[in-house]
Amino acid sequence: MSTPRLLRTAAELKSAIAEALASKGGAGADAGNATGQRPLSLGLVPTMGALHQGHRSMMDAARAENDVVVATVFVNPLQFNDPEDLRRYPRTLEADLKLLGDAGVDLVFAPAEEEVYPGGPPLVRVSSGELGARYEGASRPGHFDGVLTVVAKLLHYASPTASPAAAGGTPVRYRAYFGQKDAQQLALIRRMAADLSFDADIKAVPVVRAPDGLAESSRNVFLDPEHRRAATVLSRALFALRDRVSAGAPPDLAAAVALVEAEPLVKLDYFDIVDPQTLQPLASLDRPLDRPALALLAAQVGSVRLIDNLPLELSGNS
Ligand code: PAF
Repeated sequence: MSTPRLLRTAAELKSAIAEALASKGGAGADAGNATGQRPLSLGLVPTMGALHQGHRSMMDAARAENDVVVATVFVNPLQFNDPEDLRRYPRTLEADLKLLGDAGVDLVFAPAEEEVYPGGPPLVRVSSGELGARYEGASRPGHFDGVLTVVAKLLHYASPTASPAAAGGTPVRYRAYFGQKDAQQLALIRRMAADLSFDADIKAVPVVRAPDGLAESSRNVFLDPEHRRAATVLSRALFALRDRVSAGAPPDLAAAVALVEAEPLVKLDYFDIVDPQTLQPLASLDRPLDRPALALLAAQVGSVRLIDNLPLELSGNS
């Protein structure tokens, strides 16, 4: 394990990125380009800390593809509409640094709130529009505007193209990694990157599940054993849908919903089958799917709100 360098300010981060890229000296992981220079690459993995195996797989994906890996740890107040949720969000920087070191992350940016929002909550924010108002956005107004605003800032802070001298003029490829678990967040970040011309490739990292099927989440620590057992109905319902679809049958959403609703400790918020990019519900579910789709759900399990999703594909390779 190596110890990642911890940076607290955007200025420190920028110069640490410049040094890290310069130290790679053109020995990039990517193939050489037309000018004969070998491009370098930088992978950014934004997180709010409380890291688990899902985050570890994001770090591993970034480490496998990039010369320099930067993780951020920042509990973004802008994306919490419930102050109590923000207060009790787990903050575990020491353990996070250990996981990041084990994953071979080079730089960790863990700024204070005043560094990111020096004038208090920003007046101008990125609007998540209609896509951000549905599903998670419906029960957490403003949540996705807060997510997009901080992701935009983090993408700027870590952008290797903002300091081209950093790599001695060598082109630098920029990638940013987000979990497929937060499917709506991922779809919105992709749209923001496209609509607002960000220079980072947005990469999705598949959901990581515990042996009992529960999707890894920082909120799982709040589940007592009884609620944890009850929560496994969510992945069982998703797997049942996937198995039907991959066998060529129409998705039986009503049966999957009924399975979840039969679990008394789980209160279902939504369960839909949607287009993976637009998150628009599919119009007809009475015949086998003819294109990739995503089953998407959220539920309250005791005091914990859980989300989960699973790609549905005819091939059964999801
Ligand atoms: O997915 C998260 O942990 C957060 O929403 C993110 C992307 C780091 C923005 O705060």
